[in-house]
Amino acid sequence: MRIGVLTGGGDSPGINAALRAIVRKAAAEGVEVIGFRDGWRGLVNDLTTPLGLKEVSGILPTGGTILGTSRTNPFKKEKRDGKTVWERTDKVDKVLATYERHGLDCLIAIGGDDTLGVAAHLVPQGIKAIGIPQTIDNDLWGTDYSIGFPTALSIVMEALDRLHTTSHAHHRAMIVEVMGRDAGWIAVQGGMAGGADVILIPERPFSVEDVVARIRKRLDMDKRFSIIVVAEGAIPAELGYPVIRAEEREDNILRLELGHPPEMAKEKDAFGHPQYGGSIGYWLANRLQDYKKELEGLTPRVTVLAYLQRGGVATAFDRLLATRLGVRAVELALEGASGVMVGMQGEKVVPVPLEEVAANSPRLVPDELIELAEIFY
Ligand code: F6P
Repeated sequence: MRIGVLTGGGDSPGINAALRAIVRKAAAEGVEVIGFRDGWRGLVNDLTTPLGLKEVSGILPTGGTILGTSRTNPFKKEKRDGKTVWERTDKVDKVLATYERHGLDCLIAIGGDDTLGVAAHLVPQGIKAIGIPQTIDNDLWGTDYSIGFPTALSIVMEALDRLHTTSHAHHRAMIVEVMGRDAGWIAVQGGMAGGADVILIPERPFSVEDVVARIRKRLDMDKRFSIIVVAEGAIPAELGYPVIRAEEREDNILRLELGHPPEMAKEKDAFGHPQYGGSIGYWLANRLQDYKKELEGLTPRVTVLAYLQRGGVATAFDRLLATRLGVRAVELALEGASGVMVGMQGEKVVPVPLEEVAANSPRLVPDELIELAEIFY
């Protein structure tokens, strides 16, 4: 048996632990593994790399992905009459030809909703595919945790711990912008772990007055600093965007209003996602300047955590998650399964149909968790 493996989308700590698990389990079962470089581009252009026991030796604690990654989409993803269409292109033919040429019995794709979405659309075209959830955004439906999310939380928590000291010493309203795209998982859980005083997420459009009121309440308790965690996809209610789904935010209008330069806001990836990071944090800081009197001189300052959240070594939780998901993916391949993602549900690793994952992602933060976080601010 021969399995191909690729890693696509944004990188994150824990991917290499999954690759190691796949190779170790495959070797134990006498299965050959071929690595494809740079996500789906590796299948389109037939870019392979050996992926055996030697290659995965010593990679357990390392961040990034030894296979490389990209946001290549062999399909053309478009909106037509309000519906998202994945149109077949000649790149899909190239993927299928590469799959045949290498005599693959299955392809394991490690990534988020875009990478696994491609896998879901390729299965009806004749390939066998199994997905492993990997995204710091943790927004894949069908799994409680995606590889990379646990480590990202620890990074956010440590950043908040460190920012507390300056915020406290200088009496500042410290705005910390975190990633997560259209879901607030990193903001809510990272913010709770790091003791944030305000958490703003895409799931609940926020009002600046409410942020000011929360900081004011702390000032009244003689707390002369505040830490505000804002998710990159958070939406100010005053801009009149009550929607939360990316596909409903046309043409980057929101990004422009928040202050992205037009050429940057126009930049979309092959899956139609605009660049989110680096605007809402500064927008909020500007708006807080309008409330100098209420905030008694508490100066706003911005820290955009950006790619720091995706770097470095994986936590124990992430390594164990990646290891369990990797092993289960190989077991399913051996059983002849296809069109499923291995999801972590409670204590169990279960196969979830890729079609369902694609149809229901992004998975948003449930109300109970948001309300739990709100107890603390
Ligand atoms: O999906 C992971 C993620 O880090 C998002 O949180 C973020 O919006 C996006 O990727 C950034 O993408 P890029 O790496 O293409 O800048």
